[in-house]
Amino acid sequence: MITLSQLQTNHLDAVIQLSQRLEKDSMPCSYWGLNSISATQLLQNPDKLSIVALFDTSVVGIGSITRGQLYQRHLAELSIAVDLPYRKNGIARTMISQLEIMAKENEIELLKALIPIKNLPSRQLFESLNYEHRATLYCEFKSPEFGELDDCVYYKRLIPKNTS
Ligand SMILES: CC(C)(COP(=O)(O)OP(=O)(O)OC[C@H]1O[C@@H](n2cnc3c(N)ncnc32)[C@H](O)[C@@H]1OP(=O)(O)O)[C@@H](O)C(=O)NCCC(=O)NCCS
Repeated sequence: MITLSQLQTNHLDAVIQLSQRLEKDSMPCSYWGLNSISATQLLQNPDKLSIVALFDTSVVGIGSITRGQLYQRHLAELSIAVDLPYRKNGIARTMISQLEIMAKENEIELLKALIPIKNLPSRQLFESLNYEHRATLYCEFKSPEFGELDDCVYYKRLIPKNTS
């Protein structure tokens, strides 16, 4: 059975191993290249909240929200990834729902997700959850393997705009 948990110190080694498995995907994601320093940052950065999806005690998914600074405190960026053998079982959808609840509890008004234009499963995921494609960022990623990739920026407003 899949359960969700807040990221804890004892998950970090498994999260780094998940990152290494994700690097075999045909599309890059923000969890590529995690090492002990960047994985520890997921726990220690006060502007980051992360959860893991567990199958029994194995880490099979990770999701995070990263809150903006100063005049971007109302905004957070959402990232999500599920281990290949566990995909298409609703795990990402469940994790995003949980991250949205956590964002609202922290009075985050808007969530955004940056998704490579060619990452159709992820675009479909966010569109099915009523995230709107509002902007496209040019050449946000570049590597010898992928060349230059543009990112779609998807937004979802969690707390209605204060019009008073
Ligand atoms: C994108 C990703 C997170 C989806 O995880 P998942 O657990 O398989 O997603 P879910 O099972 O919750 O799917 C929810 C919806 O997403 C869409 N979706 C997921 N995988 C899809 C695919 N391969 N093709 C088309 N749509 C897909 C569908 O709309 C699906 O709803 P449905 O099952 O009712 O059709 C996963 O493929 C992944 O980890 N990819 C690599 C990392 C990544 O791209 N992260 C996103 C960048 S922030």
